[in-house]
Amino acid sequence: MNIHAQEIDILIVDDTPENLRVLSVMLAERGYNVRKALNGKMALLAAQTLPPDLILLDINMPDMTGYEVCQRLKQEEVTGTIPIIFLSALDQLQDKVKALQSGGVDYITKPFQFEEVNARIQTQITLYRLQKDLTARNNELSNALQELRKAQIRLIQQERMAGIGQLVAGLSHEINNPISFIAGNLKPAQEYIKDLLQLIQLYRQEYPHPSPAIQAAISELDVDFLVNDLYKLLGSMQTGVDRIHTLMLALRIFARLDESDIKAVDIHEGIESTLVLLENRLRYNNIQLVKHYNSLPLVTCYASQLNQVILHLLNNAIDACNQAKTEPRIWIETTQATADTIQIRIRDNGPGISEEAKSHLFEPFYTTKPVGQGQGLGLAISHEVVVEKHKGRLWCQSLPETGAEFIIEIPILAVGRL
Ligand SMILES: Nc1ncnc2c1ncn2[C@@H]1O[C@H](COP(=O)(O)OP(=O)(O)O)[C@@H](O)[C@H]1O
Ligand SMILES: [Mg+2]
Repeated sequence: MNIHAQEIDILIVDDTPENLRVLSVMLAERGYNVRKALNGKMALLAAQTLPPDLILLDINMPDMTGYEVCQRLKQEEVTGTIPIIFLSALDQLQDKVKALQSGGVDYITKPFQFEEVNARIQTQITLYRLQKDLTARNNELSNALQELRKAQIRLIQQERMAGIGQLVAGLSHEINNPISFIAGNLKPAQEYIKDLLQLIQLYRQEYPHPSPAIQAAISELDVDFLVNDLYKLLGSMQTGVDRIHTLMLALRIFARLDESDIKAVDIHEGIESTLVLLENRLRYNNIQLVKHYNSLPLVTCYASQLNQVILHLLNNAIDACNQAKTEPRIWIETTQATADTIQIRIRDNGPGISEEAKSHLFEPFYTTKPVGQGQGLGLAISHEVVVEKHKGRLWCQSLPETGAEFIIEIPILAVGRL
């Protein structure tokens, strides 16, 4: 690294004016920019007002010793990294050790050879600049890495949204057709069967003594059981068809098909559609759901993406509930938090989240779940959607042993403001 003395600003601190003069003349002759301070107080002020590239600091000074000045400089952010070279007539080993311990980078004993001082200044400046350069590059790199990760998450999210949209569009078309045959024919089929059964009933009344062949067939078939079971069967077919209808509707609301991206929507409708999709998981895990919906205005947002966030948070809550010590339970609460924001809170009584885990939650690919069960993308994607897309906030509160609570807060006109 090439160092030009003209670009280097040196602060000399010494309480003996003569020393100060000699050193500053010598350094100025070499082309350095030199500033002077006669005591610790002035040195601190000068360094804080305009941080120099290097400080030459005398140790023995009244009021404040060089060690103290050095320690004070090291404590402040703006002056903390400036290299400090001590100058002193003290030549004991413990003085040198103390100087280095208090934060100095070098130690020169008076009386000094000017060439030595110059060489040491050059070395320290080179080191300082290299270090600064390295720190700057390091920052650039870690910023680039963060940007890259964000871009990665955005891509994954976009891909998923597109995938879900296509899947739901395709599925609902394919399923709606055949299901509408069944739904449409189920009612008349029920009517016909009822009529036919009534006809059989009438036959049995009018001809109480049928031929032996018919009598044998009746007892073979167990007609009474068959009639009874047939009604039940038709009933459960109807329930099945209704359930598929509800699911398809929920899927469409969830994915907000046929709608523009941004829309004023009923948040509760979104939550309910998500819950329909999770009905089986909730039932299978015996989880009790406690809903507390307060009245909310319509919220202008990317509804399908917000529904995905709710799905991720609920899925995590269900996973956490598997480790609940008491009866597994999930609470969902919605509130208008301020005149222009709403909150959706999802809480569980699982094991909660440790402080250590908390600091990594929203990082992509962070998961504590076994391979194959967790991808570590749910919260990263949720963060992207809530914070970046909707300019809202997403955070978690956790009390160990009592569970975790995730809070989504978004502006009512989130997207309108972008
Ligand atoms: N409700 C919760 N209770 C406890 N831990 C949670 C909860 N939600 C998320 N976590 C923790 O955060 C991690 C990351 O969650 P997420 O990004 O959804 O990825 P994944 O669910 O695939 O692990 C989880 O592995 C888990 O350790
Ligand atoms: Mg998850």
